[in-house]
Amino acid sequence: MLRKLSFIISICYLFLLCSCNQTTKDGKNISIGFSQSISEDDSWRKSMDNTMTVEASLHPEIDLTIYNANNSTKKQIQDIERMIDNHMDVIIVAPYGSDSIVPVIEKAAKKGIPVIIVDRKVNTSNYTSFLGADNVEVGHIAGKYIVSMSKAKATILEIKATTAISPSVERSLGFKQIIDQYPNIKKKSISAPDLAALNDKLSKVLDSMPNLDYIFAFNDIIALQAWDVAKQKGREKSIKFIGIDGLNDPNGGIQAVKDGKLTATILYPTGGSEAIKLAIKLANKEVVAKNNTLNTILIDSLNADIMSNQFDRITIQQSNIELQQKAIKEQEKKYLTLYNLIKLLSFLLVVILCLGLFSIYSVVSIKKKKKLLEETNSKIIQQRNEIEKFVEKLEESNESKINFFTGISHEFKTPLTLILSSVESLHDEFKNKSHSVKKDLDIMYNNSLRLLRLINQLLDFRKVEDKKFTLKLSKNNLWKFSVNMFKEFKREAKKRKINYTIDTDNEELEVYFDANLMDKVYYNLLSNCFKFTPDGGRIEIKISQEKNKGLVKINFKDSGIGIPEKEINQIFSPFFQGSNNYRNGSGIGLNLSKNFVDLHEGSIEVNSVNGAEFSVYLKLGDNHIDVSKIIKDSDYVSDSENEYEYLETELTPSTESLITENKHSILIIEDNVDLQDFIATKLKEDYSVTRCNGTKAIEMALELMPDIVVCDLNLPEKNGFEICEALKTNMITSHIPVIILTATDDDNTYIKSLEVGADLFLTKPFNLKVLKQSIKGLLFNREKLRYYYTNNIDKIESDGLSLIEKEFLNKINLILEKHLDDSSFSVEELAGKLSISRVQLYRKVKAVLGIGVSDYINNFRLEKAKELLTTSTMNISEIAYSCGFASPNYFSTAFKTKYDMTPKDFRNN
Ligand code: FRU
Repeated sequence: MLRKLSFIISICYLFLLCSCNQTTKDGKNISIGFSQSISEDDSWRKSMDNTMTVEASLHPEIDLTIYNANNSTKKQIQDIERMIDNHMDVIIVAPYGSDSIVPVIEKAAKKGIPVIIVDRKVNTSNYTSFLGADNVEVGHIAGKYIVSMSKAKATILEIKATTAISPSVERSLGFKQIIDQYPNIKKKSISAPDLAALNDKLSKVLDSMPNLDYIFAFNDIIALQAWDVAKQKGREKSIKFIGIDGLNDPNGGIQAVKDGKLTATILYPTGGSEAIKLAIKLANKEVVAKNNTLNTILIDSLNADIMSNQFDRITIQQSNIELQQKAIKEQEKKYLTLYNLIKLLSFLLVVILCLGLFSIYSVVSIKKKKKLLEETNSKIIQQRNEIEKFVEKLEESNESKINFFTGISHEFKTPLTLILSSVESLHDEFKNKSHSVKKDLDIMYNNSLRLLRLINQLLDFRKVEDKKFTLKLSKNNLWKFSVNMFKEFKREAKKRKINYTIDTDNEELEVYFDANLMDKVYYNLLSNCFKFTPDGGRIEIKISQEKNKGLVKINFKDSGIGIPEKEINQIFSPFFQGSNNYRNGSGIGLNLSKNFVDLHEGSIEVNSVNGAEFSVYLKLGDNHIDVSKIIKDSDYVSDSENEYEYLETELTPSTESLITENKHSILIIEDNVDLQDFIATKLKEDYSVTRCNGTKAIEMALELMPDIVVCDLNLPEKNGFEICEALKTNMITSHIPVIILTATDDDNTYIKSLEVGADLFLTKPFNLKVLKQSIKGLLFNREKLRYYYTNNIDKIESDGLSLIEKEFLNKINLILEKHLDDSSFSVEELAGKLSISRVQLYRKVKAVLGIGVSDYINNFRLEKAKELLTTSTMNISEIAYSCGFASPNYFSTAFKTKYDMTPKDFRNN
């Protein structure tokens, strides 16, 4: 918007500038150049310049520039050149000589610049106009005057100009034309040298003419100088002096007539103002006459005063005009200042106007936006109210759900306690009896205990949320307490070959804490360690005093998968599950632990470098303790004393994993030791069982090539989907049926299982009989297929095989076809060409086709031979060699064994 505004303002400003500036290039201004030949010391020239300037000042459109050549023809030519270059509209020239300036005048004419010649003439007609008085007429007037004054009898001295300039020549001519008519008039003519030498010359001439009556001089200046010389000789009264020009200034001709020095002067006008008028006409393309003659008149004692008065008046008028011009110029200046001020003001006005418009626009648009905002606001308020209502309802329903779960959790506790005590008494009864029954009882007992813990955890979480926990503090030996807790996980550590240690720097240290709550903290932190530490890993508890801080630090460190750095801050948030955690879990254990430690005014920190490290800090001493919370006798009983030790059975992974040829092999991938143990125990009678806790499951399957895989979904490294997909897309293991076991039984999990190629999907808790029957079914189906392919080696296109297995058999067939005539082509070579091990090849072929690899190769050769026997004309020996049999005899024997007839009989039939 601001951009738009500044644009409008700039446009207005430009408009103002343009409207105010009347440039000289609009065709109205006229540039006139005047080349004056003689310097301003000469009064007549000065008068010419002045009259031009005054006339020009009356026309504001005229730019007049006067160049003075200072009596130099060369300078005059340069001046005119400059005027041509400056593209003057009209050039006025008062020539010095008649010839030298002709080329430059013709050049101007060629360029189309009008040229006005004033006063003296030039020897070319290539100018536009001539302006000046008629010098022949001037000569006539002078001659006639002397004739009438002298009654045609007199002696005259004519003094001509120094050089033969046109006025001098013409004046002399006119004078002669009159004088020559009168025989009694005698005339002598001389040319005036420069003024300095004139006196000498005149003096001599005067001496030589004692009866001289008149002196007629080229101009007033020369006439007056002659008067001076005559005066010196006392003859100024006897001689009459006549000059030319008639200037009206103190040293001019008119004053000299009035003073009685000159008898007469003939007015020779400069033509300054007329030249300017003529130039304006030419600039306006008006037609003007080529010759413009100025009037002349004789001035003697009779009219000198009148003339002088007239000229004075003109001079006064001129100076008035000049003054007025000056005043006008000053007014113009003022006007310009005011005009600029107005320009500025109007610009500011436009800016203010624009700003005004802009603010109106802004107000309108702000109002619109405000209205919109108000509408949105009310919508938001409405939505917020709806959300609030919804939240209220949600809270209500949540509350009732939580209440329901809390209630039901409480309900669970009674039956669980009953189960636990019943199992306990059963355990005592079976003390000296069957191993397997005792083992089942152990599982029942320990898992019921675990269930009870989980239910307690749920109830604790609710209590924490309701802030209903009150601490029951007692003074405890921290080391003893910790060792008791340590023992609870010893069995699992031993079983999973985990290097599990506990250490302290002070076995006697006593700390105030609520033993029941701290038990839960320990249990949760240790469960967490065991959950994420692989078999053979390391878990350590370390208790150390930080005396200077008045704290004790209980450190739980494991060598598990650790916590991703960006998730470390959320680890204590309720229901948080780490992105690298595929295990089942409620996500409230660590949150509860933190809440319990906080209740003790302690703190809990987490670190993750090569595993996870949880540090619990508890305050030492009793300064921080509210005495009312201290109890004398703690009701705390450690669970570790209750838990049964599992009986070590003969079922260790090493003994189980021996796959015997007569039993089908099963690989169980399950990270829950109890469940893994349970399934293995139940299946080991019928199958050769191998167990895997989820780590390196795919590698294990590749190595063992089991007949069937039972796989859990939530596993530590890769989940069940990933493992199943990896097995199903690998050519070596693709044939192995996979059963997925999962605790989640939603449609998505089922669909995903099908997508990754799982053969069966069983949800926990599953029925053992169903599992057993499913395994049987899958193995039976595989057997059926195997039977079919063993008898139809060439029909691998059948629908029964998966694409990847068809591909595998195709690959084998292609290799065998290539090496058909090579009797030494071995199973090793075939495995090498397939880039798998000999054992893998053996197990794959056995699993898919039910026969050994050598038998398959043999069958392949026999099938090819059989084909050749019917389709080719080769003899039997040739067929035997071409199908890779070492000898025709061996071929015949093998053929007979398989098809129950010799090759020869087969061909004949
Ligand atoms: C001035 C002058 C005048 C004369 C005119 C002729 O320079 O000598 O006295 O009339 O020039 O060009």
